[in-house]
Parts: sequence; structure tokens; C-alpha cells
Amino acid sequence: MSEFILRLMREEDIEQVANIEKEAYRDKWSDFAYRSELKDNNLAVYVVLAPKDDEKKVAGYGGFWVILDEGHITKVTIAKEYRGQKLGKELLWGMLKLAKMKGAERVTLEVRVSNKAAVGLYHKLGFTDSGIRPKYYTDNNEDAYIMWRELADVEVDSSER
Ligand SMILES: CC(C)(COP(=O)(O)OP(=O)(O)OC[C@H]1O[C@@H](n2cnc3c(N)ncnc32)[C@H](O)[C@@H]1OP(=O)(O)O)[C@@H](O)C(=O)NCCC(=O)NCCS
Repeated sequence: MSEFILRLMREEDIEQVANIEKEAYRDKWSDFAYRSELKDNNLAVYVVLAPKDDEKKVAGYGGFWVILDEGHITKVTIAKEYRGQKLGKELLWGMLKLAKMKGAERVTLEVRVSNKAAVGLYHKLGFTDSGIRPKYYTDNNEDAYIMWRELADVEVDSSER
């Protein structure tokens, strides 16, 4: 039984999210970007992984857009002090279930070719590489792997629908 819950991101989470974002990404999103994703983007779903005994605490967060039957994952992040405890897996698996509930039949994402932890996580959860976007990341001209995962095997309990 997990000691964490997955819940929708709220505006009051953004300060913690922005702090985690700063230490996790060289091309970090601003607070404003998160605010506008939550407020103005009807296609977007953002979630937080929080300890059950402290639901206000953000241990990790992620997000995706659902466009027709495709989910486009924009973020999967675990705060440094919580890494290496399978929480990335728990977060991403919860996001796949939620994407399916929202109508996605497959999901896609881009990841830096040097990001061994994230590439390992995505492979572990069944994503496959489908190509490379050359120089996708403009801060250092790094290539991105493009990955996809079909959601046919992802079961959503009727109680979760
Ligand atoms: C990628 C990230 C979410 C992984 O979170 P995590 O909670 O540490 O990952 P987990 O403990 O759930 O590990 C799941 C799998 O990922 C892989 N993995 C995790 N950390 C790894 C590392 N440092 N090196 C190689 N593989 C790693 C392993 O396959 C692992 O499975 P295993 O433990 O059974 O071997 C986390 O490192 C992170 O937030 N990084 C910064 C943000 C980021 O780069 N996000 C991805 C953007 S595309």
C-alpha cells in the first residue's frame, strides 16, 4: 500500500512546484507558466504526488495534455530528496491511468538523450523510442528521444472513472 496519493495540482502548490522545478531542469518553467497551464489550458491535466500524512507537501508532480486520443506528457518530476524510491514509477503510472480516463489511447513525450534516469523510467514503464528530434533543446542543442506508449494494457478501475 503506497504512502503517497496522486491528486490534482492546485494553485497553492505552485510555489513548491517552482522550487522543485528549479533544481530539476536547466530549462525550467516559470511560476507563470504553471499558473497559466492550470487556469487557461483546458487540455492540460497536472497532478501532484503527496505523502498521505501531509497532502500539502509536493514530493513530485507531472502533467500532460490530451489532444483527441493522444496524451502529450509535459512533465514528470520527483523532488531530489524523494528520488530512488520508485515514486517516479508511481507518479507516471498514475498519469497513464488518468490519461486513459481522459480519453487517451496512447501517450508520447520527449526526453533529453543524456537523461539516463528518465529514459530508464520510461523504458521500465513500457515506452518505446520512435525517433530523435535533433537539437530539440535550445539551451544546449541537445537531441530528444521521442517515445510512445499505447495504453491498451492500462487498466482503469470502474471506481476511478
Ligand atoms: C526521472 C525521475 C522522475 C525518476 O524518479 P525516481 O523516483 O528517482 O525514479 P524511480 O525510483 O521510480 O525509478 C524508476 C526507474 O527509473 C530508472 N531510474 C531511476 N533513476 C535512475 C538513475 N539515476 N539512473 C538510471 N536509471 C534510473 C530505473 O529504471 C528505475 O527502475 P528500478 O529502480 O527498478 O531500476 C527523477 O530522476 C527526476 O525527477 N529527474 C529530474 C526531472 C526529469 O528529468 N524528468 C524527466 C523529464 S523528461
